[in-house]
Amino acid sequence: MKMFRPLWSALILGAFVLSAGMPRAEADAQHPVVGFAQTGAESAWRTANTDSMKSEAARRGIELKFSDGQGKQENQIRAVRSFITQGVDAIVIAPLVETGWDPVLREAKEAKIPVIITDRTITTSVPDAYVCFIGSDFATEGKLAADWVATHSGGKGRIVELQGTPGSAPANERHRAFAAAIAPYPGLTVIDAQSGDFRRAGGKEVMEALLKKHGHDIDIVYAHNDDMALGAVQAIEEAGLKPGKDIMIVSIDAIREGVQAVVDGKINCVVECNPLFGPAVYDTVAKILRGESVPAKTFNHDGRFDQTNAAAVIAQRQY
Ligand code: AHR
Repeated sequence: MKMFRPLWSALILGAFVLSAGMPRAEADAQHPVVGFAQTGAESAWRTANTDSMKSEAARRGIELKFSDGQGKQENQIRAVRSFITQGVDAIVIAPLVETGWDPVLREAKEAKIPVIITDRTITTSVPDAYVCFIGSDFATEGKLAADWVATHSGGKGRIVELQGTPGSAPANERHRAFAAAIAPYPGLTVIDAQSGDFRRAGGKEVMEALLKKHGHDIDIVYAHNDDMALGAVQAIEEAGLKPGKDIMIVSIDAIREGVQAVVDGKINCVVECNPLFGPAVYDTVAKILRGESVPAKTFNHDGRFDQTNAAAVIAQRQY
């Protein structure tokens, strides 16, 4: 059952917080102890996300217990269990994959520690397993990428899709939304799709293999993140082709290097996915610990950059 129910309301949250009480008698809403189970360090986006969580905690005098899951769900689950044992005031999880969280979420609930899911959504059958979600709308991102492709390709082209980590919400939702948005264009076909695990080396490797397999039959690359797109740029150049010209490239994140590649004409379009959640997450933790209601879902507002606007924003990119 999808946890995000439209009517998962402030009332339910209030009930959760009241029944949960304060995990530490002396819990201080402004200076809590927070455990953060991060996925890993797979991309520049992820590094910016970790930096935002750490620097904002330091700025506010919050004690952050940080765990790098190194791309393994079992490491993240172990970290959450350790946060529970340590009796932190709140737990923040950036879940590597969508499923498999029920037992540990049940344990956090039994320990009366509020959980915030950030960055990637999950599915769970545990009622009121977490308080809220803060992140980006991956389906909107996939649609923004597809709409750009449809408009700028004239509705024609053979697409290869470089997918993110299998089972992760961004890989699933960016795939589904892109497929749905290009469906009305019979001239646009995804001829192949492989995972590069959101890593630059993965994107390069996969693109090399796809170029070997399909030769010059690739018109468009849709990459689920900029790191894989930048890896694909290298592979395309090494194959003697011009990225952004011989092959159209569209990706997601809008890290500074990705936007620079748009300015340089090597990537055609990047859809933004803002990783700077630190302030929003800690504001939310403080509200929860004060017993205030918070929205069940908070989404960033994300933009899109191509040749028309990338140069104007590059100097202000924060990540
Ligand atoms: O979950 C967000 C995704 O994870 C970003 O798009 C990607 O770069 C990261 O690794």
